[in-house]
Amino acid sequence: MIYKVISSLLKNADPEFAHSIAIKLLKNNILPISLFAQKNSSKLQIKVLGKTFENPIGLAAGFDKNAEIYNSIFKLGFGFAEVGTITPLAQPGNPKPRVFRLSEDIGIINRLGFPSVGLNEVKKTILNNKPTGILGVNIGPNKETVDKIKDYITCFESFFDLCDYICINISSPNTPNLRDLHAKDKIEELLKSIKTKQRELNTKTKILLKISPDINDANISEIANIVLSEKIDGLVLTNTTISRNDNLKSPYKSEQGGLSGLPLENNSNEIIKKFFRILKNRIPIIGVGGVHDGSSALAKIKSGASLIQLYTSLVYEGPLVANKINNELVKLLEEEGFASLKDAVGKDCV
Ligand SMILES: Cc1cc2nc3c(=O)[nH]c(=O)nc-3n(C[C@H](O)[C@H](O)[C@H](O)COP(=O)(O)O)c2cc1C
Repeated sequence: MIYKVISSLLKNADPEFAHSIAIKLLKNNILPISLFAQKNSSKLQIKVLGKTFENPIGLAAGFDKNAEIYNSIFKLGFGFAEVGTITPLAQPGNPKPRVFRLSEDIGIINRLGFPSVGLNEVKKTILNNKPTGILGVNIGPNKETVDKIKDYITCFESFFDLCDYICINISSPNTPNLRDLHAKDKIEELLKSIKTKQRELNTKTKILLKISPDINDANISEIANIVLSEKIDGLVLTNTTISRNDNLKSPYKSEQGGLSGLPLENNSNEIIKKFFRILKNRIPIIGVGGVHDGSSALAKIKSGASLIQLYTSLVYEGPLVANKINNELVKLLEEEGFASLKDAVGKDCV
């Protein structure tokens, strides 16, 4: 009941204000979230990245930018959480307004531009709040930085021993020139530098790479081959899109920024399939973009994802969305005759 009242109040508030209230409620344990803890079916368990995930539904980057609420997220039934994007220095991000709810389309456009309290603050926060679940840290460069690779290395050095994986985010559309890092020579240089640092630090912390959905087939093939040869541990597919399809109804559809939610779903599934066909399960994919129920989660898994993340459906459906998706997913796996989640991975790609 309390969830319904708060959710409907927040749905009508300014999106960034509503988000800050949600973070405060979760951070200060104002909601009795432990009441909603549920035991996962063993069917949802999956071994990926050398870890056993109790369920495949994770929180996508951007919601817990400064790593304030990941332990509450685990209590809400998420199998893992990715915090960030964290930049080396604190920065305010772009001018407001910069988040728009496309309610008619069940989407969001954001052009936040990595607002971050900076790595020192976030590091302190994580050290004071030991993660009780699987934690990823998503890292990116400051807006003004010319040598972006240096910023990724600085962040990697700061967080590698505080989390289970580091996600290198080269795909936000809201930091000038960031997506240029998808070019073959640039991505090669970036990944080689990170791998060298990983060897120097003698760490087994996994390295994942988060990719844009706005890339062509030739670029997909280049990136897939580079991540294989550089032995990157996984891909996160995808970030938000700068494309707008003609069916969008919301008055905000022409706002600049990255579009997420339902309008992104098919696009991200297609990218996942294309990567999966090349990678052939040698590197796991975390699928993200428009997941909101059991069947959209299963569609991502069948497209080639071993794990899922979501952001926009948490805004539209509220804090019980992970439990809902997990329950629906168990039923769907049974109905479709899959003994486990692993059996369904990539089934639409054959
Ligand atoms: C308001 C907002 C902020 C975001 N911030 C980040 C971010 O800082 N870093 C990042 O890698 N992705 C960020 N994302 C992208 C999400 O992690 C995710 O890739 C995308 O929203 C697609 O998933 P969804 O359709 O479930 O929202 C953000 C998304 C939204 C809606």
